Amino acid sequence: MIMPGRAICVKILLFLGSCQIGREGLASAPELREQPKKMAIVGGGIGGSAAAYFLRQEFGAGVKIDVFEAGTVGGRLATHDIGGGEFEVGGSIIHPLNLHMKHFVDRLGLQPRDDVTSKMAIFDGKELSFEESNWFIINFLRMLWRYGLNFIRMHMWVESVLDKFMRIYQYQQYGYSFSSVDRLLHAMGGDSFLALANQTLEEVMLAEGFSQSFLNDIVAPVTRVNYGQSVRIHGFVGAVALAGASSGLWAVDGGNKRVCTGLLSHSKAQVISARVTAITFKNRHSKNGPYEVNYMDQSGPAHSVYDIVIVASPLHQGMSDITFTGFSPPIPSHFPGRYHQTVSTLVHGRLNVSYLGSSENPADFRFSDVLTTDHKGLGIHSLSSLDPVSIPKGYVPPPASEKKVWKVFSPQPLAEELLKQMFLEWDDVSESRWLAYPSYSTPHRRTPPFVLHDHLYYLNAIEWSASAMEMSAISARNLALLAHNRWHGQEAKINQEDLHTRLRGEL
Ligand SMILES: Cc1cc2nc3c(=O)[nH]c(=O)nc-3n(C[C@H](O)[C@H](O)[C@H](O)COP(=O)(O)OP(=O)(O)OC[C@H]3O[C@@H](n4cnc5c(N)ncnc54)[C@H](O)[C@@H]3O)c2cc1C
Ligand SMILES: *[C@@H]1O[C@H](CO)[C@@H](O)[C@H](O)[C@H]1NC(C)=O
Ligand SMILES: *[C@@H]1O[C@H](CO)[C@@H](O)[C@H](O)[C@H]1NC(C)=O
Repeated sequence: MIMPGRAICVKILLFLGSCQIGREGLASAPELREQPKKMAIVGGGIGGSAAAYFLRQEFGAGVKIDVFEAGTVGGRLATHDIGGGEFEVGGSIIHPLNLHMKHFVDRLGLQPRDDVTSKMAIFDGKELSFEESNWFIINFLRMLWRYGLNFIRMHMWVESVLDKFMRIYQYQQYGYSFSSVDRLLHAMGGDSFLALANQTLEEVMLAEGFSQSFLNDIVAPVTRVNYGQSVRIHGFVGAVALAGASSGLWAVDGGNKRVCTGLLSHSKAQVISARVTAITFKNRHSKNGPYEVNYMDQSGPAHSVYDIVIVASPLHQGMSDITFTGFSPPIPSHFPGRYHQTVSTLVHGRLNVSYLGSSENPADFRFSDVLTTDHKGLGIHSLSSLDPVSIPKGYVPPPASEKKVWKVFSPQPLAEELLKQMFLEWDDVSESRWLAYPSYSTPHRRTPPFVLHDHLYYLNAIEWSASAMEMSAISARNLALLAHNRWHGQEAKINQEDLHTRLRGEL
């Protein structure tokens, strides 16, 4: 009576045993790996929300995605109400070839903001040393007269960088990912991209035959408005800055931050309003995932465990302040290098055009974007006339003789004295102090890693190559692919060399 029962027991045990051995033996085989159950993203800016979108795309509907946001969803994409309208105070312009941003806007049913014509001038501390004209041919002849072929060559140089840059979209389409920023740059542009990131923009452009006066008069104003820094930033971010001075730039109707809220709800991520204080590695075999995320919400400290974690906020002094514990080698709270302060001040007021050395009637002052040369004691990086995040029907930008909204970028908060010089009168001022983007002054620094631990990733490492909405989106897609490839042991999809030639046949 007992024997058959025992026999079954033994059989079951053997069966289970072989199962166990089978699983152990095959643990690294891709097909048998279980799907992860829970993932966390720290930060709800464009990087974190794009990561939620792409993780959902890679891992499917079954996985739970939590996004921790300590402040406001959107992060460095933010708007302010002033003078009866809403205006961008952080990241504002998007390049026409930023394909992820374009895709998000299409996918979420958002619209690009209606176009408003803009005109650029450059202020050298005394007068407007460069004025864009209405007439293309006049611009062209002026440039030719002053700078020879520098302008055309710059256009060609930026195009050639952009051409290589665009390769990343095809790699990502085919599921390829990269485990470091350098690998990613190398896959796009080979050694020449790494060399770009390793020299200052000034060195690169002088070596390409551009003139020093062109660099001072035209290139420096562009790096100043886009990154608050001189032509001593490295060449890769310099090329990105110059691409950001091309035509066809756009923004999202209703505000760029709408992309973030849209992506988070589209990806069905749960947004947790809390500051992450620590991430702890429990152990590889702990039941509900090896990473414990400790956070502080309104009701006090709490924690939750995850299989995969993406940190989508800069790990730098004064930014995320997350403690990593239980990791060997240890992970620092702050990586070397610092973030550059840019103060963005919105002023609803009447411009003093004489401050810009202009003797024009303010009603005829036509410039919407005034860049500046690297001039000691100037105190500002740029001055722009702003249009609201949604353009009303029949909108005509008010002339400079009327009160309107201006945006000033400066390294320090604007002193009352300076405001008084720049504006004849004003009734509202709003200041946003950003630790805006990395301080790019030392090109030889090693970029921080994408991979902090087995399944713990760092999205903002990409900012050391260049900081922009699209860069965070590219990093988000790379990390979603990398997390997926690593989870399922798909080594052949990681860090492949020479993808450009190998994929050429696929086009
Ligand atoms: C003034 C200014 C102008 C710019 N202009 C442009 C432009 O014209 N075009 C362009 O493409 N880019 C521009 N940029 C750069 C662009 O805004 C950034 O590269 C991009 O927004 C970065 O997005 P992110 O999601 O990676 O980081 P962030 O937007 O910084 O998001 C990180 C998020 O993490 C949250 N967070 C931080 N720590 C924690 C924590 N411990 N726990 C939980 N949450 C945390 C933060 O609150 C934040 O919301 C500009 C930036 C600034 C500041
Ligand atoms: C970058 O510059 C450093 C110092 O000059 C040099 O050691 C390194 O090899 C360079 N790296 C690349 C990829 O060019
Ligand atoms: C306008 O700017 C000019 C030049 O900086 C300055 O001399 C003048 O005082 C300013 N006007 C006012 C009303 O502040």
